[in-house]
Amino acid sequence: MPKRYYLTTPIYYVNSVPHIGTTLTTFVSDVTARYQKMHGRDVCFLTGTDENGLKVKEAALAAGKQPQEFVDEISQTFRHIFAGMNIVYDDFIRTTEPRHVKAVQEVFRTLQKKGHIYTGTYEGWYDVSSETFYKESDLVDGKSPDGNEVRWVQEENYFFRLSAFAEPLLKHIESHAEFILPESRRNEVVGFIKQGLRDASISRANDGWGIPVPGDESRVIYVWFDALLNYLSATGWPSPGYEKLWPCDVQFMGKDILTRFHATLWPAILLGLELPLPTTLLGHAWLLIGGEKISKSKGTVVRPLELADELASMSGCKHDIAVDVVRYYMAATMPYENDSTFSYEDFYKRYNSDLANDLGNALNRSLVMAHKFVDGKMPVASAEPAAVEAIRSARSAFERSMTEFRIHQAADAAWGLVRFLNKYIDTRAPWTLAKANDPSLPNVIAAMLLCLRATEGLIRPLLPSTADAIAAQLGVEPLRSWDRIGAPDAMPHNIGLGEPKPIFPRLDLKREIMQTPQPETARPPQAATNGDQITIDDFTKVKLRIGRVLEAEPVPDSDKLLKLQVIIGGERRQIVAGIRANYQPDELVGRQVVVVTNLKPAKLRGVESQGMLLAAVDEKGGAILLQPEKEAPEGATIR
Ligand code: MSP
Repeated sequence: MPKRYYLTTPIYYVNSVPHIGTTLTTFVSDVTARYQKMHGRDVCFLTGTDENGLKVKEAALAAGKQPQEFVDEISQTFRHIFAGMNIVYDDFIRTTEPRHVKAVQEVFRTLQKKGHIYTGTYEGWYDVSSETFYKESDLVDGKSPDGNEVRWVQEENYFFRLSAFAEPLLKHIESHAEFILPESRRNEVVGFIKQGLRDASISRANDGWGIPVPGDESRVIYVWFDALLNYLSATGWPSPGYEKLWPCDVQFMGKDILTRFHATLWPAILLGLELPLPTTLLGHAWLLIGGEKISKSKGTVVRPLELADELASMSGCKHDIAVDVVRYYMAATMPYENDSTFSYEDFYKRYNSDLANDLGNALNRSLVMAHKFVDGKMPVASAEPAAVEAIRSARSAFERSMTEFRIHQAADAAWGLVRFLNKYIDTRAPWTLAKANDPSLPNVIAAMLLCLRATEGLIRPLLPSTADAIAAQLGVEPLRSWDRIGAPDAMPHNIGLGEPKPIFPRLDLKREIMQTPQPETARPPQAATNGDQITIDDFTKVKLRIGRVLEAEPVPDSDKLLKLQVIIGGERRQIVAGIRANYQPDELVGRQVVVVTNLKPAKLRGVESQGMLLAAVDEKGGAILLQPEKEAPEGATIR
């Protein structure tokens, strides 16, 4: 029986609906599942809801609802939000389902039979918010280490012999480097286990909510013990056939629930059951807002679908594309080892720079040029080797990143290809090849289209709707198999291309981010006197745009002047600049510059100059070229 690729997310407490932070773990799993499916694997992606805890029961009562009615509602909201985020799971488990209850009770009985469970008296502190038992010495100023209120508990309980598994666990961790990722988290876990593990209390008094201990109705099973077992109950264990899924290939979770639960209690239970351990546990860091944990009471909750709605209405992009933008943000800023901070400003800026400019421009320019220069068809010509190599290297960087589920690096690898394509278009300049009837034109256009096709494949696990939109504009079926990325025939010859349509309309950031306070601009040292002042109309007469230097060479008989070929959007200009004292021609090629584009052409040393570069003046009167603080869109206007 071939084993399926089995991956899981934590199951979510249904005391409140998901925000962008809680959606992150499920998103990361979704990307991994889609990536594995593209490799032809038979994937089972499990997610679900954790419904039995005291925390959930108390939230239901606070909402004036019966627990079952309450969990039914919120569990449904989770499904709704996941579907809205285009998260496609294969199974959704709820811990109130009979299949789960049955498996949990069976695990309890099995461990009891094997002597891993005993009864005793528990005396200590309980944190309802994280459903965790603490001893006195764990508390900080009378609260849990996370700052939550704790309550005193004293009850007859069942205990699991966790302490007996410390040694075998350490051995497993030390001999399986891939078991806990990232490495920094593995070190935390090893440190925690080495401090010594206490046996775990695994029951609570039965107050009418939870899974009863088999044979003892006065007790319910501790919610973490019950919840962790969802990964096993979803396989159908102990019924034959569970091995088709078991063990998990990868389990994703936030760092807060790795050390104490997923990397100790959970594998210890599995060792007690004599079941193989999951291959990898990945404990990612947190997505913060304003540098702090996302919190309802502080009003810092951002909901992923609301964010997408807002973007769609502001930018005019389609809703499924706006959802992809939220997915892109989560991927690109994935808190892997370290926490990352969400801000609206960063979100909108990335939309403009990475999606509207980088990806949107690469797609639009390529298609427009293919329509203009090769009749809107994939040329019967092989792609230039530089592009083939760029695709190969982006694909292998993506694959390397995914071996450790570094989604942010995978996104960066895909964008590496997008950035290559934009630069390639600038430097190979199909418009000049066309003018000169250069025979390499079809090879260049073929290279551009093959890069787009490969980009479509690379981004498919991250941005599925955008990938579909790119395929439609290329006039091809979606690329669903990873092997086809970069295949020479992935863009069949003579295929008719679709119409180029911008999928990411640019946002006017100045207008949209009005609510973000802008820093005071420092005044120049000598304030202009009234007589020097100009009106805004005077200023806007000067047309400033971003250009990129394509070629640079000295002007003969001049030790000050360089002759530059600069591309501004699609237009090429020759500019003579007095910058030779500070710049070698070679270091200028490929660089972005600020150009005054509406200056009357002039001749300098007999060479025509069709514009002027902006520069600061150094102490010796030499030029220091102005450059955008980061890559700007080609030909961008400057205000
Ligand atoms: N019910 C338990 C898990 C049981 S699994 C057997 C639980 N639920 S939770 O709803 O509180 O959290 C679920 C997941 O969301 C955890 O992996 C947690 O780390 C993650 N996140 C919650 N807020 C987050 C951020 N702000 N950022 C990133 N992940 C976050 O714990």
